[in-house]
Amino acid sequence: MADVSIKTAILRVRRGAPGETARHDDFAVPYEEGMSVLDALRWIRTNLDSTLAIRYSCINANACKTCMALVNGEVEYTCIAKLIPGIMTVEPLPKRPLIRDLVTDVVPEDEKF
Ligand code: FES
Repeated sequence: MADVSIKTAILRVRRGAPGETARHDDFAVPYEEGMSVLDALRWIRTNLDSTLAIRYSCINANACKTCMALVNGEVEYTCIAKLIPGIMTVEPLPKRPLIRDLVTDVVPEDEKF
């Protein structure tokens, strides 16, 4: 008999903007084999909290390089970081200026107008 139990991933996401007290929100996401962390973040925005700030463009091609975040303390492209059942922490890049939630300013100073 097939296992029909639904696994869950808990994403513990750092929230906030400059000048605000940072907090971590936990989001329960239905886990499916092969999901990426970005898939889970997009699911959260669609189903639980549309105010969660994330950045991505190519989704799963690892071409745009805009989806970087700290996943369980390691710098990862969230579109290729595998989602795992259980608790995963997702935080903004620590050495980039924070814009809001998981979005940081990644444009080099000499490329800004
Ligand atoms: S979304 Fe483009 S590299 Fe991750």
